Amino acid sequence: INKTIGVIGLGVMGSNLVLNIERNGYTVSIFNRTSSKTKCFFKKNSEKKIIPFFTIKDFISSLKKPRCIILMVQSGIATDNTINNILPYLNKQDIIIDGGNSFYKDSIVRNKNLEKKGFYFFGTGISGGSEGALLGPAIMPGGNKEQYKVIESLFKKIAAKYQGEPCVSYIGPDGSGHYVKMIHNGIEYSDMQLISEVYALLKIGLHLNNKDISNIFSDWNKGELNSYLINITKNIFLKKDLQTNKDLIDLISDKAGNKGTGTWTVQNALELGQPLSLISESVFFRYLSSLTSERNIASKYINVKSSNTTIIKNKPVFIEKIRKSLYLGKILAYSQGFSLLKSACKHYNWNLNLSKISKIFRSGCIIQASFLNKISQEFSNNKDVKNLLLTSFFSSIAKEYQESLRSIVAYAIKTKIPVPVLSASIAYYDGYHSSFLSTNLIQAQRDYFGSHTYNRTDKDGSFTSNWI
Ligand code: 6PG
Repeated sequence: INKTIGVIGLGVMGSNLVLNIERNGYTVSIFNRTSSKTKCFFKKNSEKKIIPFFTIKDFISSLKKPRCIILMVQSGIATDNTINNILPYLNKQDIIIDGGNSFYKDSIVRNKNLEKKGFYFFGTGISGGSEGALLGPAIMPGGNKEQYKVIESLFKKIAAKYQGEPCVSYIGPDGSGHYVKMIHNGIEYSDMQLISEVYALLKIGLHLNNKDISNIFSDWNKGELNSYLINITKNIFLKKDLQTNKDLIDLISDKAGNKGTGTWTVQNALELGQPLSLISESVFFRYLSSLTSERNIASKYINVKSSNTTIIKNKPVFIEKIRKSLYLGKILAYSQGFSLLKSACKHYNWNLNLSKISKIFRSGCIIQASFLNKISQEFSNNKDVKNLLLTSFFSSIAKEYQESLRSIVAYAIKTKIPVPVLSASIAYYDGYHSSFLSTNLIQAQRDYFGSHTYNRTDKDGSFTSNWI
């Protein structure tokens, strides 16, 4: 690749990515729709190999052919508009990398349209927030395999490193890079929701203060739960509000926001007909949390007391049960997420390497966690494994920890602590390893009211009955 890279979009992610690319030995041409942003960013970094441009034409002319242009703009219309604006100035073989959180189906279309015109397009998931963009994100590029060689060294340099190994590798064709980023984000939702359920158990169940809770997360971070999200959670509980000197966490509204990537993951599971109950519950609970005024009315209108009078006598034992529940919930969420990824491979004819993908997730991204090493190992032992619960490592942990999960969910229900993802975890676990589900009754009902037919357990074929 030539040594000058173009970046369009100087938001937080874009600006930090520019600095990361420049630090790694490249000259970066920059352009932003609002030129004051370009000026301001350049002023702060004028000693660096960064060249500002104020027209698309000049910006494109500054790049050597084949050009490499990274888009760090908002997903959706803004991305399409930016592509349309640069197209007239491009030459065949030029490469456009979309590093935003684009919807993978848009990337499939953009890839097709641009390749038809002789350009190359890489829908590229970039994870790690603003710090990741600056210091090294996890990168998930999807596009033309041959052309990937042109951009590979750039990506390897700017990506996060896990024990020296860059957290990037070619994912697959067209929309697969952004698809993998979408699954990453779905899993991010369930990780975060599980942690917040555990916070409720520690706070409301055990009446622990923020400092104690921080210490617990700190301990957990030293073991099998070791991860970026557990680490930042430990820090969050210690943060003071500058104005009031109160714990900041206690001043933050419980209305959880979202930018839609979790919703896409759930929609995709519905489309592909795959169970994704843990990530779905995480998305729905954010929606429930947003019904603030309705919840306030309901909290007065519906007056149900907790039926739990048991006092936890042995706190350390109880806390250990919570830890096991959190870890098992996490395993189950990843099992569903990776199984969805597998079914997308089949659906879209992508031959994705799940072991490599889990390796990319080991550093730089939001879901980075030690246990991804284990996931990667299991997929490299057997790439055809259908579900992580069918691997020896994860099935034995699940077997050992399921009792804790059951008792914690039972406790939470009695105590009136909503734990939608922990509850969904045990239901999924029990459903998945059950050779009999009561859904035979659903088949009977469907046939009763609509002659939808059913299969039998004692012979092959489709059957219908006269039920009346
Ligand atoms: C990442 C994050 C990043 C962003 C999410 C937030 O991998 O760096 O996932 O993409 O934090 O888009 O999503 P919500 O606003 O939907 O929580």
